[in-house]
Amino acid sequence: MNIVQQVCRAISILGLITLCTGLQHCNPDYGPSGIYDCLQLDKYDKPQYATCITNSYAEMKTNYRYACKEDVYGERPTYCWNQCMVELHDMTYGHVYNDCACTPGQHVIKYSRTTSTTPLPISEQCYTPTGHDCLWFRDCLNYKYSCDGTDYKELLELGFNFCKIAPETKKKISENGFLWFDNAQKCFQVQMAPVLKQWLHLNCSTVENKATSVRNQCLSKPLGVISLCDLSHDDIWTIFWSIRDSFDKNLVPSILHVMNVIQNCSTSDKESNVTEMRLFFTPTINIHVTNTMIEKFLSKIVTKMSWQKEGIGWFCIFTES
Ligand SMILES: *[C@@H]1O[C@H](CO)[C@@H](O)[C@H](O)[C@H]1NC(C)=O
Ligand SMILES: *[C@@H]1O[C@H](CO)[C@@H](O)[C@H](O)[C@H]1NC(C)=O
Ligand SMILES: *[C@@H]1O[C@H](CO)[C@@H](O)[C@H](O)[C@H]1NC(C)=O
Repeated sequence: MNIVQQVCRAISILGLITLCTGLQHCNPDYGPSGIYDCLQLDKYDKPQYATCITNSYAEMKTNYRYACKEDVYGERPTYCWNQCMVELHDMTYGHVYNDCACTPGQHVIKYSRTTSTTPLPISEQCYTPTGHDCLWFRDCLNYKYSCDGTDYKELLELGFNFCKIAPETKKKISENGFLWFDNAQKCFQVQMAPVLKQWLHLNCSTVENKATSVRNQCLSKPLGVISLCDLSHDDIWTIFWSIRDSFDKNLVPSILHVMNVIQNCSTSDKESNVTEMRLFFTPTINIHVTNTMIEKFLSKIVTKMSWQKEGIGWFCIFTES
């Protein structure tokens, strides 16, 4: 542990972050992601966890404000150590919060490739997602937290669908649109990834709240790069309908959030040509009406009115009032 502390003390990244490199256990070329340790770092009042992460994850997670320290040849390593307080709270000094605090020497260090007694419950790539592995939502996030909250379920669904349609959608939009989409795709994974930290065992309401804020942030200005409102009218609606079409059902609650963010852009040309059609059910009927029935009913109307042929897209939202 002494090595870790000494190395850490000597290094300061971009004058802001303290990331330690060159440690034998977090190999600059091979990592692996997911190993962690507990150390006392300068400028913090208590010991905290540090994890071995990829440089690209470090950059994305901090909205491209931090990176691993360059090596002696001026190149960034693929992996480096990152302290918990930066990753979870964006704080480079001061008080160590409870979700980062630890007691040095009190835990077994999990070196995923060497210990056989305690295998990592999820694969090492889970800890530093790239945004390109669509199964991350199922195999990493939902594997650790199988919560039932609406916003959480929607984030899993929306994130997965963004990832799934990315190759096709990115071909249809401008450079700016591409930039937004690519960062949104990464954002869902990267901003949710900290809940997977091995020492964190959050309850579902905390995970749900995190999902809500991550969704809003990733839709409006993903990774701080470009705001959805800065995209052209064409890009916005191409993206919106691509997401809509990625669901094979018409009743898609998570689509509503995308729409809300679009309509929240102040310029009127972003406010779409969305026409609302409402179906009302009285409370007594309401309890007998299932989502499947609404789906079927609306699909029939749409077919009858030849909306598809007219190039009119549609989606439906179920609200109770
Ligand atoms: C979930 O955890 C948070 C933070 O630890 C706590 O404030 C909250 O009361 C917990 N909620 C439930 C429902 O247990
Ligand atoms: C709409 O914009 C306001 C001001 O920019 C912001 O505070 C709010 O969170 C946004 N709402 C949504 C749904 O994005
Ligand atoms: C809405 O549709 C009308 C008719 O096609 C068109 O003239 C108008 O520019 C559209 N508005 C927006 C905001 O796209």
